[in-house]
Amino acid sequence: MKVLIVGSGGREHAIAASVAKSSKVDKIYCAPGNAGIAGLAECVPIGAMEFDKLTAFAKENAVDLTIVGMDDPLVGGLVDVMEAEGLRVFGPRKNAAVLEGSKAFSKELMKKYNIPTAAYETFDDAKAATDYLKGAKMPIVLKADGLALGKGVLICNTLEEALDGVKSIMEDKKFGDAGNRMVIEEFMTGREVSVLSFVDGKTIKIMSSAQDHKRANDGDKGPNTGGMGTFSPSPFYTEEVDDFCKKHIYQATVDAMAAEGRPFKGVIFFGLMLTEQGPKVLEYNARFGDPEAQVVLPRMKNDIIDVVEACIDGALDKIDLQFEDNAAVCVILASDGYPISYEKGFPIKGLDAFDNKEGYYCFHAGTKLDNGNIVTNGGRVLGVTATGATLKEARSNAYKATEWVEFDNKYMRNDIGKAIEEV
Ligand code: AMP
Ligand code: GLY
Repeated sequence: MKVLIVGSGGREHAIAASVAKSSKVDKIYCAPGNAGIAGLAECVPIGAMEFDKLTAFAKENAVDLTIVGMDDPLVGGLVDVMEAEGLRVFGPRKNAAVLEGSKAFSKELMKKYNIPTAAYETFDDAKAATDYLKGAKMPIVLKADGLALGKGVLICNTLEEALDGVKSIMEDKKFGDAGNRMVIEEFMTGREVSVLSFVDGKTIKIMSSAQDHKRANDGDKGPNTGGMGTFSPSPFYTEEVDDFCKKHIYQATVDAMAAEGRPFKGVIFFGLMLTEQGPKVLEYNARFGDPEAQVVLPRMKNDIIDVVEACIDGALDKIDLQFEDNAAVCVILASDGYPISYEKGFPIKGLDAFDNKEGYYCFHAGTKLDNGNIVTNGGRVLGVTATGATLKEARSNAYKATEWVEFDNKYMRNDIGKAIEEV
């Protein structure tokens, strides 16, 4: 079978690596892909938002299955466009991807169906938001309603910061139209866990848990990024937490979406905060996490094609989802200065060290081919992942592997997975 993957980051490389393991697949395309994905798939120069071109490509090349990795095309309705042409696609339709595409929608859904989350208010104009903040308790969290590359969340410690935040989101439009509406919510404290799941419209199957490291610098300092590294499973995701979430969050979310006439098929990513009052939903995403996919997918035992097809066909209840009883750690190698400003175009050396090394993966995020050389082409460049019998072993393997690759301005956090030492 022929599979098309839409996207170009480390997540799509991890998806491609899983798809490549399937005995059912004989050809993989990726649009637009990157220099690493090109080792597994034929990369085609079509952007993820070029819906007509993607649809025409899938039809002309008799693609049997398209997997959409990224949030923008999902929220924009790529699945609807391709399905209307009779194509098989994995991912939520536009009316379900709104679970990620609008924070106001997701908060309202959680309130209506009693799914635990932070208390909040939604605002359509800056004046009302400003008035509300004057009587609110600090710290407080401001969220642009729409997609903002994971950066539309401001945590404000003082009223002054919060008022500046409203100005930048709603008046200066720092995140563009994503800031036409805004959610203001209660600040929560606790440990964060990412839980990815497969959903077929009615049934939900939970993947092994993970934890991201969103800040740029060691000790969770510095600006928020797309994610600087992950580990899986999270030792903080205990059986008690799992039981609570199964009872109050996972199936409740899937049932709520179905009840709203927005059946969700695809991956739901639950960003959870383990608070003193129990787990609460920080956010939903309508896709695999990046870099969560880079530690979760290498540990999945199932053939990903079987699982994805079961989601499309509404037959997920027949799948026994299984993960290896091991651990994985992913350390992002970034360009120094990310996420603010950084240079690109530096040659990357040492990538061959990963060839045929079982348990080690070098997922490409921002790379491209330049006259036959692989060069840096983004803020997040590579996701170096290693497995191990324990988190500690996986961590030591992953950091050892970060030394195999070199490029100018290479930057990484040195404390990915350090929290496991507290357990
Ligand atoms: P989000 O994109 O909604 O996941 O937010 C990005 C990050 O902001 C989260 O991973 C949290 O670290 C933080 N955050 C979001 N909402 C809250 C909240 N209500 N309380 C505390 N931290 C939050
Ligand atoms: N790692 C967080 C995200 O994918 O949104």
